[in-house]
Amino acid sequence: MTQRVVLAYSGGLDTSVAIGWIAEQSGAEVIALAIDVGQGGEDLETIRARALACGAAEAVVVDARAEFAADYCLPALRAGALYMDRYPLVSALSRPLIVAHLARVANEFGASVVAHGCTGKGNDQVRFEVGLAALAPDVKSIAPVRDSGMTRDKAIEFAAAKGLPIDVTARSPYSIDQNVWGRSCETGHLEDIWEAPHDDVYGYTDDPAAGKPAEEVTISFTDGLPVAIGGRPLSPLEIIAELNALAGAHGIGRIDLVEDRLVGIKSREIYEAPAAMTLLAAHAELENVCLERDLARFKRMAGQRWTELTYDGLWFSPLHRSLEAFMTEASKHVTGDVRVRLQAGSAVVTGRRSPAALYDYGLATYDTGDVFDQSLAKGFVELWGLPTKVAAERDRKAAHA
Ligand code: ARG
Repeated sequence: MTQRVVLAYSGGLDTSVAIGWIAEQSGAEVIALAIDVGQGGEDLETIRARALACGAAEAVVVDARAEFAADYCLPALRAGALYMDRYPLVSALSRPLIVAHLARVANEFGASVVAHGCTGKGNDQVRFEVGLAALAPDVKSIAPVRDSGMTRDKAIEFAAAKGLPIDVTARSPYSIDQNVWGRSCETGHLEDIWEAPHDDVYGYTDDPAAGKPAEEVTISFTDGLPVAIGGRPLSPLEIIAELNALAGAHGIGRIDLVEDRLVGIKSREIYEAPAAMTLLAAHAELENVCLERDLARFKRMAGQRWTELTYDGLWFSPLHRSLEAFMTEASKHVTGDVRVRLQAGSAVVTGRRSPAALYDYGLATYDTGDVFDQSLAKGFVELWGLPTKVAAERDRKAAHA
């Protein structure tokens, strides 16, 4: 039986060439799998037709935008996921979804190999291959760009020699990865980390300094997940898409970051995540209102681990799954509305209300209506400081001995 290879197909130069490249090198049939996670650009039918024209035996296309929004973006929001406190895991989040579909299609077509277009220098190779090892342990991973010398020059040469229907001149100076949660852009002049990003790196946001008047938006959450904007119930995908447009118009969510890759390289990336950064700000503030103090402190730590595991390609690990269960439990009372002002690149919370609020006006107020018994504080402070006081006394004695 002819061997079958499922290729994660984007429609771009590298993966288009990879179809014929893999077929030539291995004699296998290539099944191209293209997945829409909200990257925009060409429609799936155009991409499907190109895969077939480039020699794929079969081309499978999946509109996974709703699944990506509900099952990957919102869990990241609920976990408060910001890698290195800045990056909302845009690209890192789409990889486990792509892996799950690759494993499913490999199984459906009886393929023994899965191929991806990653280089050997990035995080994505790890995310694909570790994910596949978890979901489809009998399926082998190959990466033509990394493993069999399919460089850019050779890819262009190959495309020309075979007359492949790809525009090799339409190449951007940047390496870009987009989805509904945001946009990642690297290489070109960005590799000089002192150089400011040129205007042409941005695709999801307008200039934050354009002087647009402020706008307010109210986001409603149930159990830590956004469910409505301005009182209108919307699906996860609709909420993210709408906030990308609204917040993107105010230049919100631009991130210029030198980050630590899993493979040990530091690299500079420009991210744009207008909806993600707006939702993260709103969600964090609602947690401040609804989470008990120790739960909030622990959840921040757990969220950081959740984020690192996702970044590091360990989405399908037992720890990630367990932390996800924790997030569900911890988010049970994170319900309510948050009002956010969008202006000049910032999403600023200006109001919050919740039926599950732990904020108690009677305890907080300095006005009449104060129910807090201040006489209890004196003894509390004394006992709270006792261990430190005793230790300090010991240290003083030791210093004078
Ligand atoms: N560095 C980011 C990550 O590993 C984004 C990688 C996306 N690739 C790109 N071509 N910009 O999650």
